[in-house]
Amino acid sequence: MSDDWNDYADGWDGNSDVRLYADRAFAALDGSAGITGGGWQDKRVLDFGCGTGLLSEKLAPHVREVVAADTSERMIAVLQEKALPKVRALCTDILDGGAREAAGMLGGFDMICASSVCSFLPDYRGAAEVLAGLLNNGGVFVQWDWLAADAGGSGLTEPQVREALRAAGLEAVRVERVFEMESGGQAMPVLMGSGTRAAE
Ligand SMILES: C[S@@+](CC[C@H](N)C(=O)[O-])C[C@H]1O[C@@H](n2cnc3c(N)ncnc32)[C@H](O)[C@@H]1O
Repeated sequence: MSDDWNDYADGWDGNSDVRLYADRAFAALDGSAGITGGGWQDKRVLDFGCGTGLLSEKLAPHVREVVAADTSERMIAVLQEKALPKVRALCTDILDGGAREAAGMLGGFDMICASSVCSFLPDYRGAAEVLAGLLNNGGVFVQWDWLAADAGGSGLTEPQVREALRAAGLEAVRVERVFEMESGGQAMPVLMGSGTRAAE
């Protein structure tokens, strides 16, 4: 398996598991935050590690703007070809302070989503802190990741997510198993972690 996400970009949307993961993540988000209910129409969302924008595509009709950011040029190229209304694609490392300043648009989010991204980051806790700082007061951070069997396994454990989100200063932290995917006859549970930036 390649460790360069660019290598997966062309076949990403053709992978039915990837699409199903995005469907289920959005359904879980809608169930908890009521995205499709009309109350998010004036909100700005960051889809961090957006890939080809499978989640951005579902969010965009219900919000004011989705900033879809990814470090993979080829993932972003596939997203740009879709020309999705209300989706602003951005190829940058949002965790790099310099890039964040230069981009200007990276802040003031009402929600930040990270679907199947955090467990791949070299410094998940540091990333959670940076991302929490880009939220408006009362804004929500939401992530989905494979549930790891133990702290050294691939994916994240429930305590790892809970601790990282609390250390990032988020409140009302919740971590739960929201769906399962099947792989080789095995069930692979997916965690959804969320927390809110306190109103100051
Ligand atoms: C498993 S894919 C998930 C893509 C998309 N969220 C989805 O669910 O289809 C992980 C994505 O995270 C991106 N990524 C990894 N590190 C990143 C970083 N520091 N900033 C932004 N994106 C990153 C990769 O380029 C890749 O597109």
